[in-house]
Amino acid sequence: MSDPALPGQSTPVVVALDEAAAERAVALARELGCELLPAGGGDWRARVVQQRPVLLVGGEGLALAQGGASRLTPVRADFADPALLHRLRHAGARSEDLARALGVGARRGLVVVDATAGWGRDSAVLAALGCEVTMIERQPVVCLLLADALARAAASGDARVRALAGRLRLLAGDARALLRGWSAAVPDAVLLDPMFPEREGSAAVRKQMRLFHGLVGDDADAGELLAAALALARHRVVVKRPRRAPPLPGPRPTHAIEGRSTRFDVYALRSYRPGPDGA
Ligand SMILES: C[S@@+](CC[C@H](N)C(=O)[O-])C[C@H]1O[C@@H](n2cnc3c(N)ncnc32)[C@H](O)[C@@H]1O
Repeated sequence: MSDPALPGQSTPVVVALDEAAAERAVALARELGCELLPAGGGDWRARVVQQRPVLLVGGEGLALAQGGASRLTPVRADFADPALLHRLRHAGARSEDLARALGVGARRGLVVVDATAGWGRDSAVLAALGCEVTMIERQPVVCLLLADALARAAASGDARVRALAGRLRLLAGDARALLRGWSAAVPDAVLLDPMFPEREGSAAVRKQMRLFHGLVGDDADAGELLAAALALARHRVVVKRPRRAPPLPGPRPTHAIEGRSTRFDVYALRSYRPGPDGA
């Protein structure tokens, strides 16, 4: 499943944190074609001395860590993250720039493709606001983290988290090809949030993004992804950028919504209001 041609990708070490996780860790290491540390890897920091990504497999699911001198705490994708749930409890279609950019308030149950799913945070916000979201992720390890988070959310004791998971699905692969060959219902909107070298944002988000870099690189092909998204979406394409970053190569955005550190470039293709012919 691992694609060595992807920019910036470095191979992770898989670590089973305890005996109970050993079997799963073996299967994941085989699937990813990467090195495995034997079970009981609680002391993995002492053993993974190189600066490389570490996929931790334990009783609470999968997490991504960094080997070497870095003391970054492991990060996991989590649709039941208390901070995220708190934010979502107060989130409304009006208060979230992301939702305003996509036009979430225009219609119930907007169909959205998040073509650069990453940690799934934006997808979670959209699903919490009632959107039906298809997440696409091409980096195999990141995709595993998302699939793991989705399975945990679907089995959650919290009905809100289960409902949120019910509005999310995950596709593994390169969104450029998947959008070009799309055969499911045409999405109302496509969201893109490609990597950018100097991410701003909260300390927690910056930490997650630093961990990403070794695996993912800079998504230099994002202009092609924009072209594929513009050819597919019915109403809108939205590109999330650091506030001072240039727009992606391609057509100029119709308008932008600027937040403190983030800008949403909006490519408005067709109004959400039906025209006289019902289109
Ligand atoms: C900045 S992160 C996205 C963060 C995400 N918006 C969130 O809320 O967690 C970018 C992600 O998009 C993925 N990506 C970039 N280009 C892609 C493509 N063409 N197809 C699928 N995934 C892509 C990268 O692998 C990376 O995981």
